[in-house]
Amino acid sequence: MARYTVTSALPYANGPVHIGHLAGVYVPADIYVRYLRKKGHDVLFIGGSDEHGVPITIKARQEGVQPQDIVDKYHGLIKESFKRLGISFDIYSRTTSKTHREMASKIFRTLYDKGAFIEKDSEQYYDREAKQFLADRYITGTCPHCGNENAYGDQCEKCGTSLNATDLINPRSTLSGSAPELRATKHWYLPLDQYEPFLREWILEEHKEWKTNVYGQCKSWLDTGLQPRAVTRDLDWGIPVPVEGAEGKVLYVWFDAPIGYISNTKELCPDTWEKYWKDPDTKLIHFIGKDNIVFHCIIFPAILKAEGSFILPENVPANEFLNLENEKISTSRNWAVWLHEYLDEFPGKEDVLRYVLTANAPETKDNNFTWKDFQDRNNNELVAIYGNFVNRAVVLTHKYFGGKVPVPGTLLPEDLELTGELAVLKSNIESSIENYRFREALKETMNIARMGNKYLTDTEPWKIYKENPERVATVLNLCLQIAANMKVLSEPFLPFSSEKLASILNAPLIAWDDAGKADLLPAGHVLGKPELLFEKIEDEAIEFQLRKLADTKIANEKINYIPAPQKSSIQYEDFSRMDIRIGTILEAVKVPKTGKLMKMTVDTGLDKRTIVSGIAEYFTPEELPGKQVCVLANLEPRVIKGITSQGMILLAEDSDGKLIFVSPENIVRNGSSVS
Ligand code: MF3
Ligand code: ZN
Repeated sequence: MARYTVTSALPYANGPVHIGHLAGVYVPADIYVRYLRKKGHDVLFIGGSDEHGVPITIKARQEGVQPQDIVDKYHGLIKESFKRLGISFDIYSRTTSKTHREMASKIFRTLYDKGAFIEKDSEQYYDREAKQFLADRYITGTCPHCGNENAYGDQCEKCGTSLNATDLINPRSTLSGSAPELRATKHWYLPLDQYEPFLREWILEEHKEWKTNVYGQCKSWLDTGLQPRAVTRDLDWGIPVPVEGAEGKVLYVWFDAPIGYISNTKELCPDTWEKYWKDPDTKLIHFIGKDNIVFHCIIFPAILKAEGSFILPENVPANEFLNLENEKISTSRNWAVWLHEYLDEFPGKEDVLRYVLTANAPETKDNNFTWKDFQDRNNNELVAIYGNFVNRAVVLTHKYFGGKVPVPGTLLPEDLELTGELAVLKSNIESSIENYRFREALKETMNIARMGNKYLTDTEPWKIYKENPERVATVLNLCLQIAANMKVLSEPFLPFSSEKLASILNAPLIAWDDAGKADLLPAGHVLGKPELLFEKIEDEAIEFQLRKLADTKIANEKINYIPAPQKSSIQYEDFSRMDIRIGTILEAVKVPKTGKLMKMTVDTGLDKRTIVSGIAEYFTPEELPGKQVCVLANLEPRVIKGITSQGMILLAEDSDGKLIFVSPENIVRNGSSVS
């Protein structure tokens, strides 16, 4: 038995969690710890909310509330939704806790007293109106690379270049709108360059087994050369720097947040926490997303090393990113599937999400979530393979053997092959999980059900019961043993379904170490009630989700809409030369082979005339007759696709390109002038 401290990145409490967070961090971490617990190890699974830093203050400012209000709201929401998805933290606390403030201050102070920091004065932007130094995110200006006028002090989102605030042309404070000035300020820096030899040895030599994406990123940071990093900030939200002369300064969020893992362990185990962080026999594993690699593999280890009494991570199995319907997930653009919404919209389907996110996990490269794939995997895999197998085995046992596990007869070669394969699959699952290959582990688990299904189909017990009940007893016994194996082995991935299966089999207590064999349920054991493990997901549910995303897209286009600049001035006479009349559309037909053009007959009050207009993508010919519109009547006729168009119908173009008629509010006599 070994001891493990497993952490998962502390999400910022400035918004809810989405499927990208889950697939990257929380679902794999949960699979891993559930497995370790089943194997009998001493495991702590540590989580919590990251409640400091600029992202929180920005959100508070946007909503016109205090940072504390923001973190209270989202910490509660995040904690609750993790629980509902079955993410089995031993503790989920927060970095605004007292324990954490003390722990982070203490570690900072220890490093300070050891002389581990460099003190440096530097020039930073200061907003005189707001009377504060400005975090990089609070400064906007023109990007020196692409000319984007709305680049941030840390990054230009248009061309993707990462910037220093002082690179910006015409910097402006987003707090007051004024031009900030440079002022000297003192900060404490961790001289990462001094840790380079240690980090090179520890990562590049001693941890060649780390995932290639993680190892590769570390190597590239180390090869570029490390610079001293400021670990304090001028900000009024965070943990005060516990040093005299540091008034108004707080710890950098990336200094305090990872220490949250330690604080939360201490909050959970006030008396024994040290063995989880200081005993060299403890294995420390950090589950994170790829944007967190440098903090967990380079900066935090340097802090731990400088402190001197802590262990270093054994592994940091970082994942890549998950996209949604082929686009980057974005909190600010609301392009996400939010966990709390999923849980409300798909009650009882927690495992379906866990399954799809694991089967599709971005373990080695960015991956894509689509609702169609979600539906297919549920219907074609969970329902058709796993659920169907269990259901057939259990229903047949109820039918032929009164719901009792039958006594098996002599095993045939195909039976022995089956049990042999079961043992192989179990050991594959174990080694895949131990090597952080959760997709592969899940696939092997489903292969057990696949194998069971095939065995049932090949042996066809329903056809042979009459002449050979003994053979049927053997077959169903084996199928039930396979189902019992599925109950145990699928638990790390699908805990809710595993529990359901336990009740179907009336077998809640099977040890992981007994799995892999075909003797988990004794003959005569009474099964529970048959029940469906999974249900089909209908098209309507998927269409609803796709419509939600489409609505988000439209809403975003509206927000980002920049109206065309105003045209140059004209005189009233220029305007009065236009003869605009109210008319009624009498008939409409699409102009063949154009897709866009509609040919209409319009009663303008002056005459009935033909007008061709490019509206066919937005209207059907049937909905147009009877509609009153504005017509520019004295426009010189034009021949369009061989049709003479006499005038123009006025239309507004919405931000998404959609065309809308400019129509009188009430019915007006045809021929009325518009001026
Ligand atoms: N809040 C950070 C993020 O969402 C992750 C912090 S992980 C920790 O990217 F180690 F710092 F806690
Ligand atoms: Zn740019």
